[in-house]
Amino acid sequence: MNIILLGAPGAGKGTHSEMLVRDFGLKHISTGDLLRAELKKASPVGLEAKSYMDKGSLVPDAVVMKLLVGAIAGIKHGNGFLLDGFPRNESQAGMLQEELASRNMNIDKVLYLNVSKDVVIKRLTGRRICKSCGAVYHVLNMPPEREGVCDKCGGDLYQRPDDTEETVLRRLEVYRKETEGLINYYKARKILAEVNADLSRDDTYGLILQKLGKK
Ligand code: AP5
Repeated sequence: MNIILLGAPGAGKGTHSEMLVRDFGLKHISTGDLLRAELKKASPVGLEAKSYMDKGSLVPDAVVMKLLVGAIAGIKHGNGFLLDGFPRNESQAGMLQEELASRNMNIDKVLYLNVSKDVVIKRLTGRRICKSCGAVYHVLNMPPEREGVCDKCGGDLYQRPDDTEETVLRRLEVYRKETEGLINYYKARKILAEVNADLSRDDTYGLILQKLGKK
């Protein structure tokens, strides 16, 4: 099972990726996480990406594609994968198609997490992430047991620099201009399944399982 999770910032791509990985053992490939890992290492790729990410703009396709190809090359044949935050425009979708075809792989399903703007703003400005293990929380919806401390590993929680209201609005605008067109792109290929992502985490996940024929 090879899946793309498509949706606006804050739609719940990372949250539901974690649940799908837990239940189906898929390899999780998040281009946002790959870029943040490069940034942490202060590599040339990470430093180049930082200026785009801080503004809420897309990182150039060539930079992201290099990271993506490396991650796909690491998938053991026959194991499924989950793409989170990739592709972000038609050019990336075309390059993905070519890359997968060259490896005799394909995408089985694109799950479009449809979320409304006011929900996104509340979710992202309240999101907190563990510095050590990457677990995701929300100060109101999914708070940790102890404020600022990860339930899973005891690590410190932090707020992503691009989760301020101003940058979230910019990311939503970029999503509308550059990424939203992929809904029709995959609809035309008859692999798109839409899910109401305004619902609670568990209700949304229930819909995802239905669309995957697992419930
Ligand atoms: P990336 O890291 O991919 O961020 P994003 O797409 O903006 O998405 P988010 O991670 O913000 O949201 P999410 O949908 O994963 O939501 P989450 O599950 O965490 O990209 C960051 C940047 O990197 C981009 O701006 C760009 O610069 C660059 N980049 C990345 N990929 C690129 C590419 N392919 N090309 C070019 N540039 C690229 O949930 C959010 C919060 O809500 C959490 O607190 C969570 O607990 C809560 N929550 C989630 N679901 C629910 C629910 N159903 N009910 C209640 N709360 C919920």
